Amino acid sequence: MDADKRRQLRDAFGAFMTGVTVVTTHDAQGQPIGFTANSFSSVSLDPALLLVSIDKRSANFDNFTQCGHFAINILSEQQKETSNIFAQKIADRFSLVPWRTGEYGTPLLDDSSAWFECSMHQVLMPVTMRF
Ligand SMILES: Cc1cc2nc3c(=O)[nH]c(=O)nc-3n(C[C@H](O)[C@H](O)[C@H](O)COP(=O)(O)O)c2cc1C
Repeated sequence: MDADKRRQLRDAFGAFMTGVTVVTTHDAQGQPIGFTANSFSSVSLDPALLLVSIDKRSANFDNFTQCGHFAINILSEQQKETSNIFAQKIADRFSLVPWRTGEYGTPLLDDSSAWFECSMHQVLMPVTMRF
C-alpha cells in the first residue's frame, strides 16, 4: 500500500470514536510490557470474551500472542499522558506510571476506569483487506 492510501486508511479508521486502553503482560524475563491500544472491543458476556488487535510489527508481538494472561486497562480521561507513554518507544514505560500486579500476575495501571485480567482464549491471524 502506498503512503497516501495508508494515510487515508489511518484517517478513516480514526474517524471512529473509541476509548483508549493499555494492554499489559510480562516478557520471558518477567518484565512488565504494555502498549496503547484502541482496538479493544467486548465480544461476549457469557462466556466472558473480549478482543484486542496487535500490530505484527510490535516489538512485543510474540510476547503478547504467546502469553497465558494479559490485562486490558481502560484509561480514564486523566490518563492522556499514560496513553502517550505506552504509544512511544520508551525503554521502561512502567517506571513512569503507578501500577501494581493483579491476581493473575498481570500489570494493572492505577487510576484506570476499569481493568480486565484475561486468560488467552484464541489468537487469530488476519487476512489482507481490500478497501
Ligand atoms: C490512540 C492509539 C491507539 C493505538 N491502538 C493500537 C492497537 O490497537 N494495536 C496496536 O498494535 N497498536 C496500537 N497503537 C500503537 C501502539 O501503541 C504503538 O505502536 C506502541 O508504541 C507499540 O510499541 P511496541 O512496538 O514497543 O510494542 C495505538 C496508538 C495510539 C496512540
